[in-house]
Amino acid sequence: MSTIATMKQQARATWAAGDFDAVVPFIWEVGGVTAEAAACEPGDRVLDIAAGSGNAAIQAAMRGAAVTASDLTPELFEPGRRRAQDNGVELEWVEADAEELPFADASFDVALSTFGIMFAPRHSVAAAELARVVRPGGRIALASWRPAGFIAEMFRTIAGFMNPPPPPEGPPVRWGTEAGAHELLDEAFEIRCEERILMQRYPAGIDEMTDYFMPRFGPMVMARRALEPAGRWDEFVAAYRELTRRWNEGGEGESALPAAYLLVTGTRRG
Ligand SMILES: C[S@@+](CC[C@H](N)C(=O)[O-])C[C@H]1O[C@@H](n2cnc3c(N)ncnc32)[C@H](O)[C@@H]1O
Repeated sequence: MSTIATMKQQARATWAAGDFDAVVPFIWEVGGVTAEAAACEPGDRVLDIAAGSGNAAIQAAMRGAAVTASDLTPELFEPGRRRAQDNGVELEWVEADAEELPFADASFDVALSTFGIMFAPRHSVAAAELARVVRPGGRIALASWRPAGFIAEMFRTIAGFMNPPPPPEGPPVRWGTEAGAHELLDEAFEIRCEERILMQRYPAGIDEMTDYFMPRFGPMVMARRALEPAGRWDEFVAAYRELTRRWNEGGEGESALPAAYLLVTGTRRG
């Protein structure tokens, strides 16, 4: 199997592990931000790329759009369907690699992605697919983690212990830089970039917040599977606790981790 195919197999196993939908509330706000930033409305055909359990997709559907949620990891669709039902909307769920979207050219008015498309290993291929499926004049709204921030540091800490193969076009947070966004998107889109901060709040102390994440967040679950047999899990947990304590802005009995992301909005050139 090629390195790229192995990376994708690993990505699917990672996001299927744990209980991703149980951590979605921590990023739910950003699905609403992207759906609003792209002005999703009735009559729009909207694609959410790397939708997971439908964060942005569901909130676009709540604004009246006809939405397709696509993701590499179909294990997330069942919780997504429940989440959609709880919010009173229905959408289409399609298993799809962001680098090879199974949709016709120019078939969407809007494409969204919240912390999703950034994880496809070949950024330029995913960007070309994004450009292909959005019609001329169509809109995009993408949220990607910034390279300097709590989340990026968390992923670097995990990678420091797990030593994954080097990503072929740089780290996912390239999508979270103005330079990266312009490199990837300028040819097909007129874009605007804006840094935003998402406060990830938990109604208890920071170590309890960590204890909540550890068995639920796929990358942590995979780290544990690899590091426990190697006798390095305690070392990892200590490094992660240090990181979260350092970033925590919460007061007594509550946690607040500031997570910086880049919001990119744009219009497909004609
Ligand atoms: C951090 S989750 C975000 C999910 C969702 N957008 C949200 O906001 O809750 C990253 C998602 O990217 C998906 N993903 C990773 N690589 C992908 C690829 N090559 N194509 C499509 N989806 C991919 C994963 O399956 C996972 O659902």
